[in-house]
Amino acid sequence: MDAQEMREKYVDYFKARGHSYISSASLIPENDPTVLFTTAGMHPLVPYLLGERHPAGTRLVDFQKCVRTGDIDEVGDASHLTFFEMLGNWSLGDYFKKESIGYSYVFLTEVLGMDPNSLAVTAFEGEGDIPRDDETASIWKSHGLRDDQIFFYGKEDNWWGPAGQTGPCGPDTEIFYDDGRPKCGPKCGPSCHCGKYTEIWNNVFMQYFKDAEGKFTPLKQKNVDTGMGLERILRILNGKETVYDTPLFAGIIGQIESLSGKKYGEDPEVTRAFRIVADHLRAATFILGDGVVPAKVGQGYILRRLIRRASRYMSKLGIEDVCMKSVAEIVVKEYSKAYPELKANENFIYENITAEEEKFRKTLTKGLRRFNEMLAENAGKEVLNGEAVFRLYDTFGFPVELTQELAAEQGMKVDLEDFENRFKTHQEASRGDGGTFKGGLADHSEETTKLHTATHLLNAALRKFVSPDIQQKGSNITAERLRFDFNLDRKCTPEELAAVEKYVNDAIKAGIDVVCEEMPYEEAKARGAIGVFTNKYGEMVKVYTIGDVSCEICGGPHVKNTAELQGFKIKKEESSAAGIRRIKAVVGKFD
Ligand code: ALA
Repeated sequence: MDAQEMREKYVDYFKARGHSYISSASLIPENDPTVLFTTAGMHPLVPYLLGERHPAGTRLVDFQKCVRTGDIDEVGDASHLTFFEMLGNWSLGDYFKKESIGYSYVFLTEVLGMDPNSLAVTAFEGEGDIPRDDETASIWKSHGLRDDQIFFYGKEDNWWGPAGQTGPCGPDTEIFYDDGRPKCGPKCGPSCHCGKYTEIWNNVFMQYFKDAEGKFTPLKQKNVDTGMGLERILRILNGKETVYDTPLFAGIIGQIESLSGKKYGEDPEVTRAFRIVADHLRAATFILGDGVVPAKVGQGYILRRLIRRASRYMSKLGIEDVCMKSVAEIVVKEYSKAYPELKANENFIYENITAEEEKFRKTLTKGLRRFNEMLAENAGKEVLNGEAVFRLYDTFGFPVELTQELAAEQGMKVDLEDFENRFKTHQEASRGDGGTFKGGLADHSEETTKLHTATHLLNAALRKFVSPDIQQKGSNITAERLRFDFNLDRKCTPEELAAVEKYVNDAIKAGIDVVCEEMPYEEAKARGAIGVFTNKYGEMVKVYTIGDVSCEICGGPHVKNTAELQGFKIKKEESSAAGIRRIKAVVGKFD
């Protein structure tokens, strides 16, 4: 089975069971300062899991692009990926355990034709105040699973979330594929890493909220959040050893073969390099597709690391030309049906991937030469000093993680603390901004709600006084301030900023009602609502209108009336990346 067939089978199955299909959200989370990327299908749905009404109803289905950055350096083995797709279905206070398990069981065994004997499932053993989940086990038994296919585990293994520091979470039942080989020992089960069991689907019974103090309180509604890894299920259905052997990677790996003249699988080192290049360039293409450009911090830094690490491994494969674009083209071609934003942004993707590749190519060889000299200078030592690491970063553009990897290949460590001190001093001298994150995940406090409404007013004001072409390129709200990124290739003038600030303050003083309506996406577009247009035909969206000042597609929440904001002040206007400006602003009473 190929990927598109799988996505469609999944969506159609849940649509036939009353679920509305929603589009994949951006990889860049909105209003969540604690994580850089969308890491699970539930991530964009946090407000609705907490009780906000979703315009598409209480049963949802989608496939969501995700990036997890924790394991970038593990990529190259058989299973780790930075980019992956998650198939998901949700009940927002609608059905619960019985239906959820039933839907999963029938989908796996009847639609995908998996043998019920090849499944193993888990249930929550109980811990602290939260009881053992015998209900889940008995539902699985009602479908014919035997006791020896059902395993109980504690919080460590059978509890999911929150995605950030705070948010919705709960006990889960995880569904595994058992490849049928003998257990590796008496304790072997789904939580064992011997390879006998592969997790394919996770059904989370999301009924608790974890707060900043680590306390769990019951949510207003009982939700179900599920996630199935597309790459893994394709691997199993196609009977392949690794995710790289599935149709998802065939075109990408074929292109790397023709660029390098080498064959995937010809020896372990080549195989590893192929996987790294394939994973990293697929991830980079998707991240660029959501408007991120390579940068020194944040998402842009992860993007830079991916491209530069891929470049080094391409070089190891003997590819010396600037040619990442040709791999990105395959990704755009193969994935645009599911993710039309790739096609829509293809020129941006190609320009930026090529620019970053060219930049790094120029210094890669010299940097590697310098690295080898440094090795000779540090011969016999175990640690490469921070000054050397900083020089490689500053002069040759080697992300510190790349130097760490190079050093590790020679059995050496780097002095990270010394590097970080040098890096900080340098950063303070050149930019005057540490840019650390603060705040909680999807916090819907009064303060963040006000700042969210202020963001809409600011967006409208910028389009009115600075340029009608301005679009939101990023938004990040903490309890203290809003941060808004937008496209503009110059600084805003003080006059423009004063006009923007006054316009927002006038809208606050006028006490305008904020009106929320639900309508099909086409109607919102026809009305001139602005917003991130990745939605598909027929989807219902929420539109927030603030008098004749602002009209935006948005999930909310917002204040009822602009007067609640009291006042608005711009604290800073600065560059965020090439062609992107950033404004930080606050609300409250200022006099
Ligand atoms: N949110 C759950 C996961 O990521 C489904 O596993």
